[in-house]
Amino acid sequence: MIDVDFSNLTSFIDVYNREMEHFKPEPVFCFPYLKRVLNEQYKKLEPTLKFPMEIKLPKDEKDLLAGDFEPKQVIRLEKPVLWEDTPIWFESTMEQAYLRFGYKNLDARYISDVALSMECIHGFLGGSSGHGKSVTMNAMICGLCMEYAPWELEIHLSDAKIVEFKKYGVNHRIPHISTIAATSDSDFVVSVLQSAFDKMQMRNKIFGSVGASNLKSFRKKTGLALPRVVIIMDEVESTFKFAGKKAGKIADLIDGYARLGRSAGYHIIMATQNLTADIPSSAMGQVKLRMCLGAIESVSEKVLGNKGAAENMGRIGRMIVNTDALNGGNTFKSNIKFQTPFLTDDNFEVEMQMLEEKGKEVGYVKNLSFYDEEDIKTIEETCKVISDTQQKMKARGEMTSNVCPVILGAPAFVTTDTDELLKIYLDNEDVENIAVTSPTASKIGVLLKTLSENLKAQYKIYNVTSKADYLKMFPNNSMNKEAKSVFTNNFSLASYTVNQSLFMDAVDTLSQSLSLTSAITKEANDYFKKNSLTSFIDNKYMIRRYHVFSEFKNYTDYKEIYESVAQYFKDFAYFSKLHVIVHATQRWLEKKDFSKKVIFIGDVNKIVGLGRDSKTREIDKLKKLMQDCYKVNILFVLYGTTFTDLQSLASGIRYVIFDSVDSREYNKFKAEDPGEVNAVLCTLYDSIADGEKMKKFKRSKIKS
Ligand SMILES: Nc1ncnc2c1ncn2[C@@H]1O[C@H](COP(=O)(O)OP(=O)(O)OP(=O)(O)O)[C@@H](O)[C@H]1O
Ligand SMILES: [Mg+2]
Repeated sequence: MIDVDFSNLTSFIDVYNREMEHFKPEPVFCFPYLKRVLNEQYKKLEPTLKFPMEIKLPKDEKDLLAGDFEPKQVIRLEKPVLWEDTPIWFESTMEQAYLRFGYKNLDARYISDVALSMECIHGFLGGSSGHGKSVTMNAMICGLCMEYAPWELEIHLSDAKIVEFKKYGVNHRIPHISTIAATSDSDFVVSVLQSAFDKMQMRNKIFGSVGASNLKSFRKKTGLALPRVVIIMDEVESTFKFAGKKAGKIADLIDGYARLGRSAGYHIIMATQNLTADIPSSAMGQVKLRMCLGAIESVSEKVLGNKGAAENMGRIGRMIVNTDALNGGNTFKSNIKFQTPFLTDDNFEVEMQMLEEKGKEVGYVKNLSFYDEEDIKTIEETCKVISDTQQKMKARGEMTSNVCPVILGAPAFVTTDTDELLKIYLDNEDVENIAVTSPTASKIGVLLKTLSENLKAQYKIYNVTSKADYLKMFPNNSMNKEAKSVFTNNFSLASYTVNQSLFMDAVDTLSQSLSLTSAITKEANDYFKKNSLTSFIDNKYMIRRYHVFSEFKNYTDYKEIYESVAQYFKDFAYFSKLHVIVHATQRWLEKKDFSKKVIFIGDVNKIVGLGRDSKTREIDKLKKLMQDCYKVNILFVLYGTTFTDLQSLASGIRYVIFDSVDSREYNKFKAEDPGEVNAVLCTLYDSIADGEKMKKFKRSKIKS
């Protein structure tokens, strides 16, 4: 007979019932869950927290590197920052940053204490489509932003699917978030990773300079609140897929974070459905924090080192965390189960608004670099941005009569520009001509409008095209009236415009080295008397100019200029009138005396004629003009659907804007083919730039 101890059984049932009360396999809602976490955590830490609390914010990496450890700002908190009744932002990331994934093993007594730290530096989240990866990442971001103050944590977000992280930047500025890359374009992602990587390397140098081996000891030594940095990438697999040629660069950067992040306090968390070969295995070898939502066995194996996640197929939000996967062996026993907090749209905006306001209340501000691929401006909006920005730049002294900024649009990379725009600065110091090319006339049209809108503040605009039809291909009003009005059938007008100024300039240059003889003086004075130019008599500037002018056809170096202007400058009276206009009768001409002009030339191929010989000759002439024109404040903008046969002009061009061009088109300008370019972007090539020569930016919307 079996002896049953009923007293024991009742107590067992008691225990079972009590345990089941805590069992929470059901959805855990994000914000109520976070409130509970924060209240408990606060209670635990309260004895160690002292108010008023002073937080010393460090200066920029550059200053720190120069040995300046004076605080940039001191934030003083009289009492804890509150989210309704719940304290937030009271915890330090000196040791770690907790990731609140719900209740450990679904037991409501145990809050997730998974953390990013010196030991557990990077994370990877896998799981089949629709199983809650993005929701989990978002809940994690909200948790981090609630628990830690923005001076404790800096967050960078990247999402190749665009939609997941965009919401942090559209309506609010969450003080923790530095960058949001809502784009499939790899350039922006590369630049986010690169700029954070550069800062990370600086950080390690800074630590070295004070004899600190890591973030914690640096903070202890200096008393400065230097934040941990967390880079969160959703859809990494797509990021790699879209990156084309740049995939290797992304892999290298991720690998660099994996190796160097530990001491600097830089963490990277990647999410994707599958662990593919794109993510370097050396980097994965550094990723200790393995997380997997419901997934097929093979994915579970790769991520967790065991098949555990397979049983969660179909259970949305059920996640397994394992930090032993790198050790190999039977990792199953170290699987920890979570039901991740469910973040819905309800209250999201309200809570984000709260975070933004709290940041303002305590006086913490940070710039957000927000790149939303889908936010494309119309040409009208772009024009408004251009004029507003030019006003601001004028006020800041960045736009002067010597420098004309050209605002192209929102850059597809992290920029240090104050206005977060891609700009070029024209100063006529050297060749600065621009070429614009796209197979689509309407795309050329908006780009021309963008350029002319920029230039019209300082430049008189001319436009030369082969056919009136060409202009019609542009969207309505894509060119301003002035540009349209000087439309002509060939480019003699362009050549005359440049040569007229070059001629004036050449006469002055030659006059300055001329030795005045009494014969020259007499001849000039006689001419002045005869032609009622009596005010010039005995004016040494005009006497010299008269002499050079009348001899000009004999200066062989200036043959082309002479031929081009001879029919217009028949007499000295006309020439001298121009000097009177610029008030240069009592001095030599200066560069500023030449008013700024821009000459747009469309479809150069057609303009220069069909005959083979004459074409080569004309192109050579144009090339010469393009090389010299900056000396007299003239700028060329060549545009067309192709630059075939015009390669030789490349030497007269500094900037090229490519839009949706064939890879061969880059070659003609010796520009490196950037690979696949997202349809909303164009590429600016700066042939003489020191660093990156190719930069992508958003073109304005094309109306369909
Ligand atoms: N923790 C959760 N609790 C309850 N429902 C959830 C939870 N997480 C996600 N869901 C539901 O599942 C849907 C899909 O989640 P999510 O977009 O995060 O999946 P995903 O793994 O990122 O998918 P994909 O790989 O396609 O991007 C959500 O819209 C939500 O309705
Ligand atoms: Mg997703």
